[in-house]
This record gives sequence, structure tokens and C-alpha cells, in this order.
Amino acid sequence: ADKKTWSDRFEGSLHPAIALFNASIGFDIELIEYDLTGSIAHAKMLAHTGIISDSEAQQLVSGLEQIRSEYREGNFNPGIDQEDVHFAVERRLTEIVGDVGKKLHTARSRNDQVGTDIRLYLRDQIEQIRVQIREFQQVLLFHAENHVETLIPGYTHLQRAQPVSLAHHLLAYFQMAQRDWERLGEIKKRTNISPLGSGALAGTTFPIDRHYSAKLLEFEGVYINSLDGVSDRDFAIEFLNAASLIMVHLSRLSEEMILWSSQEFSFISLTDSCATGSSIMPQKKNPDVPELIRGKTGRVFGHLQGLLVLMKGLPLAYNKDLQEDKEALFDAVKTVKACLEAMTILLQEGIKFRTERLAQAVAEDFSNATDVADYLAARGVPFREAYNLVGKVVKTSLAAGKLLKDLTLEEWKQLHPAFEADIYAAIAPSQVVAARNSYGGTGFEQVRRAIETAKSQLEEP
Ligand code: ARG
Repeated sequence: ADKKTWSDRFEGSLHPAIALFNASIGFDIELIEYDLTGSIAHAKMLAHTGIISDSEAQQLVSGLEQIRSEYREGNFNPGIDQEDVHFAVERRLTEIVGDVGKKLHTARSRNDQVGTDIRLYLRDQIEQIRVQIREFQQVLLFHAENHVETLIPGYTHLQRAQPVSLAHHLLAYFQMAQRDWERLGEIKKRTNISPLGSGALAGTTFPIDRHYSAKLLEFEGVYINSLDGVSDRDFAIEFLNAASLIMVHLSRLSEEMILWSSQEFSFISLTDSCATGSSIMPQKKNPDVPELIRGKTGRVFGHLQGLLVLMKGLPLAYNKDLQEDKEALFDAVKTVKACLEAMTILLQEGIKFRTERLAQAVAEDFSNATDVADYLAARGVPFREAYNLVGKVVKTSLAAGKLLKDLTLEEWKQLHPAFEADIYAAIAPSQVVAARNSYGGTGFEQVRRAIETAKSQLEEP
């Protein structure tokens, strides 16, 4: 960087390796459109308050818009010598509009400027991610509507527990995504506060109007304290937390898809459009997409941890450490968007539920054992007693290589006189599911209601 970046206090120029080390232009160019928008609002505020003239502001605004066009056309490519996007824009502006360009930075610091930029950026990205979450929820809901009466083994400890409606299983993910969507909405509110006008740290001697620039930028409020304004990154940490939770949810679903597509489970098959082959084993079809989503989850967690640690020791107010917030945010945003898109496509066309295999799976296990105990308990046998008795039945059936449905009525009656012929209907998989009709349970009636609830959740603004 040439010494002219800073004031005439500097006589020498930066060591080239240090210039490279210090520069953020390699990544903060991502902020350019937000930086231009922020600068336009700042210029208008300067004219509004009489700090510069209207015609000066007009020149600044048209110069900034010209940079926007140059950038969009691929003709604005500042190099490392520009240090960061803020200097790069100011320098190009002065080339375009002449000396008036040097007035843009009146009553402003890069500290409140960069704070403004990342908030404008993040608020925009949050909205884009929320739209993607809606698309993800739509496809979950689509499958849920088609599979209310498709049963799938339900697990605890990854051991067969009780069968559930496949729709119920998918709607669990719908509700996780709903919380992600809501959480981002909350975070957007706290992100959408203007630090502009905080100056370097202490405010400014000029008669600025922070509310005016905030309004132009559609911020919902302004930072009350200038020191806080330039050094707060809580909103970014909150975002990374929300991003991490989105990834947790996508990763759990991915893990299930990976299991389900294995030969051992065979609950889904992968279509050619989303699966990959092996370079050596010709029989293979690999679930690379959910594996990559599961894998990419780690880097988003890393960014959250990184920013927490970055912040913990910082004295007020701005410190250059804060420049490190950007790559973390940019990469987390990019990763979450890519994973949401991939998962949505995977659900749209990458998997097929193997309903015949699912039906077979729920018919051939002991996941109806609770229902036998419930059967007795409903006929006056204390639940714990019934539970112990059924445990014994399972043990002897296992030894005999039988399932509960294979016991004769005589055998049932020997076990307990309360058993009647209706025991067979009570332990049939679809009845086992239908019977769990408590609120939020897997009973078909509940699931149909949950689908209606999900539809109305999608309508929330
Ligand atoms: N590139 C810097 C960042 O990303 C901009 C703010 C620099 N401010 C300063 N006082 N050095 O944080």
C-alpha cells in the first residue's frame, strides 16, 4: 500500500507482506453493494443536515452509483494496494467525481461504516435464508401429505421402539425448520439497528442526523451508545448460532437418509440425479449429498466458536481483530445456503421412499409390545405388572422364533385371562399408530391436524 492511504503522518510505505497481511479487500469486496448503499445514505444525510451542499451530495451519489455499475459489469476490481473495500470505493469515487469525493468521509469512520455494511449484508442474507427454509418446509410437507398412512419404525437408542407415521417423522423436521425460521426473524430485528454516525468510537463533532440515515437504509433503530455501535458483534454471533442450529437439523436428517439408504435399512433409494458412484466398486450408489451436508456442519460450528473467542478479550471499542468476523460470516452464509438448497433438491427428486420395505419392517418386530401392555392396563391390570408379563412373552416368542401376532388366542389366554380376540387388531401396526391419538402424537388423526397446523405456519408473515 502506498503511504497515501493514511495521513501525511506516514512517510514510509508498508512492507509488502504486511500490506497483504493487513488487507481485507480479498474478501470484503463481498460487501461492496452494501458499502455503496451505506455511503449513498451517508452522503444524503450530510446534505440534509447542511454539512455539505445538495449539489455535492448529488455528485457523490452519482459517482457511487457509477461504481455500482462498474462493479456489476465486472469493471471494478480493486487490488491489494487498496487495503479494504471502503478505501477502494473512496479512491475510485475521487477519481470519478474529483475533489468533492474527498468529502464523503466527513463525520464518518470506517468503524461505523463497516458495522453498517455487515448489518446490511446480514439482514439481506437472513431474508434469503428464510425463503430457502420455507422451500425446505414445503417439500417436507409435500411428502408428509403423501405419507400419513405410511408407517416407519420409530427408534430410541437406534433400537426399534414403536412404529410411527412417516408423515409424523417428517413433520418433526418441519417443526425444527419452523423454529429456525422464527429464530432468524428475531435475530434480524437485532441486526437491523444502525451504528452509522457512531464515528470512530465517540460520535462526531458534526451536526449529523443518525435517524435520517438509518431511515434511508431502512434500519429499525439506531445504536444508543456509540462505543457499543462500533464494537458490537452480538448479532453476528446470534446469526452463527442460528446457522449452527440449522446445520444441526440438516445434519440429523442427513444422517437418517444415509442410514435409510443403506442395504441394512433400505427405507429409501437414491435416484441417479443426486447420488454418486464409486471409482472402483461398480455396484455402489453413494449418498454423497447428505454426507457432505453432515460434514459441512462442522465448519459452521467452527465459525461460531471462532467469533465467540475473537470477541471475548476485546477492550472497547474497535480493534482490528474485528476484521476477522467477515470470512466467518461469509462462509457460514454460503454454507447454510448451499446445504439448504442441496437438501431441498434431495427431498424433491433425490430420494424415493420404499414403502413396501417400510411396511415389511414395521410388521416384523416387537415394536407393538407396548400396545400389549397398554391393552392389559386398559383392562385393569396395573401397568407395571402388564409390562413385566409382556416382557416374558417377548422373551419366549424370541426363543420360539415367533412374533406377537403369531401367538394363538389360547396362548394369549394362558398368559392372562383378560386377552380376547381383539388383541390381534390392537397389535396390528396401523392400529398401534392410530391409537396414539394424544395431542402431538403419531395417531393419524393427530397427524392430519398437524399437517393443517403446518400449513398455517407457512402462512405466517
Ligand atoms: N477492514 C476493516 C474491517 O474489516 C475496516 C475497518 C477498519 N478500521 C480501522 N480503524 N482500521 O474491520
